[in-house]
Amino acid sequence: MATLEIRTIPDPILQQPCEPVTEFSNELGQLLDDMYESMVAADGVGIAAPQVGHLKQVAIVDIGDGKIEFINPVFMEKRGIQMNLEGCLSIPNQYGEVKRSYYIKVKYRDRNGKTYIMEAEDFLAQAIQHELDHLQGILFTTKVDKIYTEEELERLDVE
Ligand code: CO
Repeated sequence: MATLEIRTIPDPILQQPCEPVTEFSNELGQLLDDMYESMVAADGVGIAAPQVGHLKQVAIVDIGDGKIEFINPVFMEKRGIQMNLEGCLSIPNQYGEVKRSYYIKVKYRDRNGKTYIMEAEDFLAQAIQHELDHLQGILFTTKVDKIYTEEELERLDVE
């Protein structure tokens, strides 16, 4: 395994749509292992392939309840609304309130090409929506009214 360089804005790769995976090869497994190691090293709860320079529909989410690897993911259902503060490994020191669905149902493949359907809600659903947005070249900063820095957030907490 290896830690990969995490691309940050304004790297144009972050705003390009990803291609579906067609070969469930050892290379894909290697990419997933490297992405996970890079995510953990950066203290993230999710990572998407464009963030490490690959325009492939590959993302990982781990909010502390176990790792989920999403290959070629598609939303089947979205319900409800939640509004939470988000940040991104590719957008250092910028945070903002993002409106997301509270409940989601996603169809995806694993690294071997096997198809799964999963449901998620609350924070896990938020994290999955953030990562799947990356696969379409969408960054959370395009969905917020206001951007806060870490210092601004700390000041708001005090007040
Ligand atoms: Co992100």
